[in-house]
Formats: sequence, C-alpha cells, structure tokens
Amino acid sequence: MKTKSDRIMIFDTTLRDGEQCPGASLNHREKLEIAQQLARLNVDVIEAGFPIASPDDFRAVKSVAEQIKGPSIAGLARCLNKDIERCAEAVAPAGKKGRIHVFLATSPIHRQYKLKKDKAEILKQAAASVGYARKLCEDVEFSAEDASRTEPDFLAEVTRTVIDAGAATVNIPDTVGYAIPTEFGALIAFLFEHVPNIRQAVINVHCHNDLGLAVANSLAAVQNGAGGIECTINGLGERAGNCALEELVMALRTREALCHATTGIHTRELFKTSRLVSRLTGMVVQRNKAIVGANAFAHEAGIHQDGILKERSTYEIMRAEDIGIEGSDLVLGKHSGRHAFADRLAKMGFRLKAEEQERAYNRFIDLADKKKTIYDDDLVAIARDEMEDVAGIYVLDYLHVSTGTKTVPTATVRLKKGEEIIQDAACGDGPVDAALMTIDRITGIKGKLLDYNLQAVTVGKDAQGEVSIRVAFGADIISGKAASTDIVQASAAAYLSCVNRLLHSRAGVGKKK
Ligand code: KIV
Ligand code: ZN
Repeated sequence: MKTKSDRIMIFDTTLRDGEQCPGASLNHREKLEIAQQLARLNVDVIEAGFPIASPDDFRAVKSVAEQIKGPSIAGLARCLNKDIERCAEAVAPAGKKGRIHVFLATSPIHRQYKLKKDKAEILKQAAASVGYARKLCEDVEFSAEDASRTEPDFLAEVTRTVIDAGAATVNIPDTVGYAIPTEFGALIAFLFEHVPNIRQAVINVHCHNDLGLAVANSLAAVQNGAGGIECTINGLGERAGNCALEELVMALRTREALCHATTGIHTRELFKTSRLVSRLTGMVVQRNKAIVGANAFAHEAGIHQDGILKERSTYEIMRAEDIGIEGSDLVLGKHSGRHAFADRLAKMGFRLKAEEQERAYNRFIDLADKKKTIYDDDLVAIARDEMEDVAGIYVLDYLHVSTGTKTVPTATVRLKKGEEIIQDAACGDGPVDAALMTIDRITGIKGKLLDYNLQAVTVGKDAQGEVSIRVAFGADIISGKAASTDIVQASAAAYLSCVNRLLHSRAGVGKKK
C-alpha cells in the first residue's frame, strides 16, 4: 500500500480558459492583479493567455512573465510556427520559468471535420511543433485536444511521440466534458501501461464541467497517476467551465489518506482568490458553491448548530479558517479614521490607489451614516466599486426616480463626463428600467440587459444590495457590479460601469474584445 503522498502540480488557467467564459473578460490591470494573487496562492503554473489571439493577450502574457515571480508562466499556442514564435516571445521574460503550451486535436471527430488530417499527419505536426517549441523554450507542454474522445491506442502513440520530441508535460484534456470518472481514470491508467516513456513527462489532465464531473474526473486521474491538474478559480471556463481549483485542492487535502496526493497550495488564500476573481470577472459565485460559496460553512438547522457547538467535526469536514474565511463581524464605525480603514482593506487583500482609497473611505463614512452595522462584506463591496479603473469616463452625479403603483416610473439622471455635466430623463416599465434608459439616452449607447442579479451584501433590512449584470452592446458582452443601500442606484452604477468598460475597450485601453 502506498504510504507517501505525491505532490500534484496545480496549473491554473483562469486567465486563459477561465477568461474564455462569455462575459468574463479581464483588462490588463485585472489580469496582473489575479496573477499576483495566484502567486500568493502558490500555484505551480499560471497560464496567462493565448499570445497570438490578440495584442492584448500578448501584452498580458508578457507582463505576467515580467512581473510575477514563483510560478511558471505558460502561454498557449496552436501547433503552428507563427503561434509558437509569438508565444515564445511573450513568455521569454520569465526565463527558465517560461512555458510554451502547444495543442492539437487528436480525436476522430476533430481529425475528420475540423482539421481534415489523418493520424499520421497529426503525429507529424505534433512532433514538429513540440520540437520547434523546444528550440525556443526549455519547458514545453503538449495538449491532445479532445483526448477523452480519442482512440486510446492512438492517444498512447501521440503521447509517446511528443515525449520523444521533448514535451516535459503531456496534457490529456476532456475538452467537451464528456468523460465519467471510472472511464477517465481508466484512460490515464491505460496510458501509464502503454506508453513506454511516460515517466519522462508529467501527465496533466484538463477537465471541463459539461456534465458537472470536472473535479470528479480530475480526482480519478490523480488516483491513476496524473501528476498535474489544470483548473480555474471558481471553475470558470468555456461553457460550463473547468475543474474548480478550490474544490480539487480541498478534496485532495481533506481525503489525502485515500488520494495519496497533496498540492503546494496555500489554502488560506483560497477564499480571497475566489472573491477577487468573482469581483473582477463579474461572475457571481453561487451561495451554495462548494468551498467558497457564502453558505459553504453556514449551519442553519438547529440540530447541526447544536452538534457544531458540542464538537465541530460532527458536521464540519473542513475548517473555514483553512480556506481563509474569517468571521464577518463588526469591524469599523463611522468614527474610524482613514488609517484603520486602509489597514482593514489591506488585511482583506485590497491594494487601492490613493484616489481610490479616498473615494472608498468617503463612501464608507456615508454608509456608516445610513447603516447601523458595517461588516467586512460591506467594505469589500465598496472597495470593489471604487477599484473600477474605468470609472472616470461617465460618473453618476445625481439620480432621482419616481415610481409607485399609480405612477409611470420616471428617472432623472445627471452624469459627469470630465468637466461636462449632462442631464436627461426617461420613463420605463420600472424604476431600474427608467434609470438605464436615461443612461442610454445620455451616452447614446444602447445596451441590452442579459442578466440581472441582486444580492444582499450582508444581513439586515439596511443591508447594501449588490447588483451584478451582464449587458450586450452589439457583439460585446460586458459584466459589471455595484453596491448601494439604494438598489436603483446600485443598478445604475453597475450599468454605467459596463458602459465605461465598453468605451475603454473600444478605445483599446484594456479590454480584449
Ligand atoms: O479544453 C481544452 O482542450 C483546452 C486545450 C487548449 C488545453 O483548453
Ligand atoms: Zn479547456
């Protein structure tokens, strides 16, 4: 029986596959902020983007490679020389920690319909690309896209070939989230039996969550020899997302005796990382999400509460502290000074610029006038709003709505754009609709609301409401968030933040699209 745990490599692809999640695109500063937090979390590899995809992606990978110390920094490339060269240039500043990650589809469906290539051509292209990438970078990974739907014998042949060509890591993706755990575990075991040189490389897996099995499939792979897991924070990613890093890591840690595997992750950074990614991508974490959801450690039932008070392990398999969730108690009052406020935000992982800090402090003082109790979560909501680095284009200066059972909902909105002040009014089918219509009239940009989500930031009738929205402006889909004790104001501010982000992206200031 195995007694020693294997150290599993955690390859985080939040900034690449995670960012492919519709509506979750990030600007340059946001990508760097997430990369810094991933380094604090101590992931082994950060996949920072797909350098050939756009100039913004290239710049992001290059900046991450320049500035982030600790993890290896990977960039994605198709098995094409122009992709590989661009990727090599982007990861070069990371020196020995730079990695080129090339991928090529191997399954019959992809070979026939997408690539129109036979097996021999795939083997040739994979080997040539790995060989070429090795000339430009010491650390090369190969991914057999749609591996789980590839004939196992052919997948074994591909794996052997790319290891011979110099790949130090071979990734076996379940690209369309089709596998189930027993089957996927058996595929990894099959490769270990049939690829003679397999121990010269690390075998990664990269599971998508279309059937809700990404974490289960990744665990099955670990139990059958996989040495690395590709995953994302909060399970973000294409379609239903990728394996959620926080779930995988805590499953390995909680059930180490069975899985015989550990990671280097500093688990106390997990909650903070999840919050940061949710805030910057605008992708809300569902309350009952495992590990990082608001309810993950909340015990509602009397029997459970009684058990917990007697002995925590009766109903708790993990400790909230181990994930970095601290009590959400009263922290500050309206007499708290700037220093205490800044200190508290810094302890929660926020790094605000001086002007953002000042705006956030003023908001906090306003809130303390309106609200009896200020919680950490209130401060997080304020800091999130004020860290909007695109806040400067249009600023909400004044909002008045009139609404009621026998009134046509009407909004008057005043926006500031630099020195200019623009005011207008419009009616809508409710106060939020009226406010957003007025913003459209002022800015001349028409957005279509795709999602609208309102959540209380904390408990109590005086809680701030946090509005998260996704808006389509033609083909551009943008997410925004804002909080206020007035939910119409929060809605208008969230919408305005989408407009500002759109304008920045169209001006090429940060967004990819
Ligand atoms: O899902 C997938 O197959 C991928 C590869 C590019 C690794 O994201
Ligand atoms: Zn993927």
